[in-house]
Amino acid sequence: MNQDEIKRLLGIKAADYIDPWLQVDAYIGVGTGSTANHFIDALAGVQHRFAGAVASSVASADRLKSHGIRVVELNEVSSLAVYVDGADEINPAFSMIKGGGAALTREKIVASAADQFVCIADSSKWVEQLGAFPLPIEVIPMARSLVARKLVGLGGTPVLRENTRTDNGNEILDVHDLNITDPAHLESQINQIAGVVTNGLFARRGADVLLMDVDGEVRIQKRRGSA
Ligand code: 5RP
Repeated sequence: MNQDEIKRLLGIKAADYIDPWLQVDAYIGVGTGSTANHFIDALAGVQHRFAGAVASSVASADRLKSHGIRVVELNEVSSLAVYVDGADEINPAFSMIKGGGAALTREKIVASAADQFVCIADSSKWVEQLGAFPLPIEVIPMARSLVARKLVGLGGTPVLRENTRTDNGNEILDVHDLNITDPAHLESQINQIAGVVTNGLFARRGADVLLMDVDGEVRIQKRRGSA
């Protein structure tokens, strides 16, 4: 299987995995990216079994709508049982780096509204220590240089992502060379920098469940300590 076929399998298995949460009045949180796209395509087959979806990006909302799946704003729902999304890196504690698709802020918001975060990631995303993938940070454009200097102070090498605006109208700095030994601490530290909207560390609220391929099969793992 090539990587896209694995991502497709992960999307299908994720739709199976969330079956217990599908109810006619339930809304599903949906992530962004090529793996999440396969999940959206798989959801199309069961769309009559849930009320609709909250999307983490305009691109995912458009794809959901193209399948006839109802998309609602987060403000319209009181709860989300489950959020399904990919990752750029995930470690054994199920902390992640996300934001390769520039959707990190809405991803973090929708994820934080959900009871369960189900990560669908092919095995190339598995790492012992986060940080080989440059950490995406969404910044208010007027604060870009200020934030970049502070990130250099934290040991990073920020690079402006060319020709990119987020769905919120902001810019992305991709930060190389960070030594991420304590992801939750660094997540909080970066969030304290004025001008940072969100950083792509998902450690304070990591994944609860991971679907990842092992030898061509999808293995389902729960985070240690999660119900
Ligand atoms: C988008 C993300 C994606 O989940 C991440 O980039 C993984 O993408 P893909 O499934 O295409 O490998 O965080 O902002």
